[in-house]
Amino acid sequence: MAITTAPVNESRQPVGIITPPVSSSFSAAVLAGSANLLLAQGVERALGVRLAACTTERFPDGEVMVRIDESVRGLEVVLLQLTSPPVNDHLIELLAMVDACRRAAAARIVAVIPYFGYARSDRRDGRRMPIMGSLLADLMERAGINHVITLDVHTPAVEGFFRIPVDNLTAVPVLAEVLRPRVPANAVIVSPDVGATRLANRYATLLGLPVAICHKRRTSGTEVSVTRIIGDVSGRPCVIVDDMITTGGTVAECLRALRQAGAPTNAIVAATHAVLVPGALSKLAAAGVQELIVTDSVALAPAADSSQLRTMVVSVAPLIATAIRRLLAGGSLRMLA
Ligand code: R5P
Repeated sequence: MAITTAPVNESRQPVGIITPPVSSSFSAAVLAGSANLLLAQGVERALGVRLAACTTERFPDGEVMVRIDESVRGLEVVLLQLTSPPVNDHLIELLAMVDACRRAAAARIVAVIPYFGYARSDRRDGRRMPIMGSLLADLMERAGINHVITLDVHTPAVEGFFRIPVDNLTAVPVLAEVLRPRVPANAVIVSPDVGATRLANRYATLLGLPVAICHKRRTSGTEVSVTRIIGDVSGRPCVIVDDMITTGGTVAECLRALRQAGAPTNAIVAATHAVLVPGALSKLAAAGVQELIVTDSVALAPAADSSQLRTMVVSVAPLIATAIRRLLAGGSLRMLA
């Protein structure tokens, strides 16, 4: 497996654990759940502060036990935990940590949830189905979260599910910088579905490239079909961009349709969240992905099936650390969104 990691440049100025913002009477503590310990360590390094100690244990019956091992009384708590697979376990762990902090008299709880699971469930489509994104928002608010920070969340609808402030950061500028030297001038940015068009436009603006959009239909969790492509891809190197890759089915189907429309056989793929269930990397390699560029927002499982795929992992820890630092100083996050 050829995985390269590339942290982005970022000032490592320490903020103290955590220096109370001058403009605020709060002190703060930064905690991390167990969903992505490498990212938590990266954020700790980039912030230049020690994460507050906490413990997560799983009982043999699957129940989770969390304990905050330091006082958070009266503190502003920033809690880093994503709802990546196993989604339900990580979600419950997040809720448990929030409950523990609230009961321990934390003054305010900011949840940093770089990957927000269930965000794809954002409507009922007229059927008897739940809106899981909305349900999660209710659970999180009810548990005691006062502010949410996400990263390239799947749909802006998520913000509307909450009544509390939500800031959505983006990794697009970081990923675009990695793409820049790899992408020829006649390339085209490809959105694998209509939903990713806004994301694709951001890449296209930063890289000065045109956009093509695939029209995708999802028939199940593992099956999609691309029925047509809007935009000129014939003979042009393609860069497929997406917020997340789970099974690799979307990218594989998109590549098939692009080939049919006259694009080269191989393409570079960039995505913020490498959810990558088992078998996904093999599927991407077999489909003709020439290089995969992702962030470390989701912990990458050491996968046995990735040997054929060149993968570059860019760290978003500095981006998250900057957001936390700004937030605690009462600054704007606009430039990170
Ligand atoms: C869907 O709209 C998302 O943006 C991704 O395209 C999709 O979730 C990727 O999933 P998979 O890799 O399983 O096709």
